[in-house]
Amino acid sequence: SWQLSDFAEASIQKIRQQVGSKRVICGLSGGVDSSVVAAMLYKAIGPQLTCILIDNGLLRKNEQSLVIDEFTNHFKTDLHVVNAEDKFLASLAGISEPQEKRRRIGHDFIECFKTEANEIEDAHFLAQGTLYPDVIESGADPDGPAATIKLHHNVGGLPDELGFELIEPLRDLFKDEVRRLGLELGLPESLVWRHPFPGPGLAVRCLGEVTKDKLVVLRAADAIVIEEIEAAGLYRDTSQTFAVLLPVQSVGVMGDARTYDNAIAVRSVNTDDFMTADWSRLPYDLLARISTRIINEVQGVNRVCYDISSKPPATIEWE
Ligand code: XMP
Repeated sequence: SWQLSDFAEASIQKIRQQVGSKRVICGLSGGVDSSVVAAMLYKAIGPQLTCILIDNGLLRKNEQSLVIDEFTNHFKTDLHVVNAEDKFLASLAGISEPQEKRRRIGHDFIECFKTEANEIEDAHFLAQGTLYPDVIESGADPDGPAATIKLHHNVGGLPDELGFELIEPLRDLFKDEVRRLGLELGLPESLVWRHPFPGPGLAVRCLGEVTKDKLVVLRAADAIVIEEIEAAGLYRDTSQTFAVLLPVQSVGVMGDARTYDNAIAVRSVNTDDFMTADWSRLPYDLLARISTRIINEVQGVNRVCYDISSKPPATIEWE
């Protein structure tokens, strides 16, 4: 679409003017918005861009390597990967209350980002993937009902205290425009059409206390869900699809032996705006394959459930 390529060209020119010879840092999450921002900055100022990926230990299978591959091999950015799994898991130890989990993850994220950003001596600008809906939402009543449902955290929400001048090249765009812009900038379809993933990552899908062992189970189950929905050609027909590890054990039977193992819930929703959502009517055969594979391949799981709740009254994430 010619309009979007004009927009991209104009934004790139604007960024060059604004930045001059200074350095820009950009947090990467593996998601669409931060990737599009980084790709745009890279086109505009190339070697003056430094990207930061905080691996909080709560990422999906292969997520770190996907980001590294895209932003060092394809876009040859100066990418700093911070392996902070131990720090995040230590903060989360013993914590099962969802808001407190979110609070700690948000806090650790800012701390890690700040530490890394401060090492980049000449950093002057911070690029963020703020979208038009974020701009509108933050103008809304901050104490309104929506604000109190879940504490939101994402890479685009770093506080002013970091002291950088902001660059927000997606401020005028809606999500579908950001996706088209991503394709225009040369990002692969697999990244551009990726389902959204919350800032607190797998922690809000590992119900109750988060441990390394539970994350291993959840990550393996989630990868199977995604593989199967892609194999069925239905990934793009759903808005968000993932696995949740429930904080419950149930009885099963394996061969002659009784098992007492974990349960995985599969969540898949269709939505236009993520404010309301309906559960996806996935084919039974697909659900059957997902269930069989998870139970056979993921050690410690003997039961799979499908979440048939709409939003409202349920939310998309379980925490
Ligand atoms: P809920 O669970 O509130 O989620 O129905 C609505 C959408 O928001 C995503 N989500 C988040 N995204 N930081 C994010 O960037 C967060 O803290 C967060 N919490 C939920 C969720 O995945 C869904 O797409």
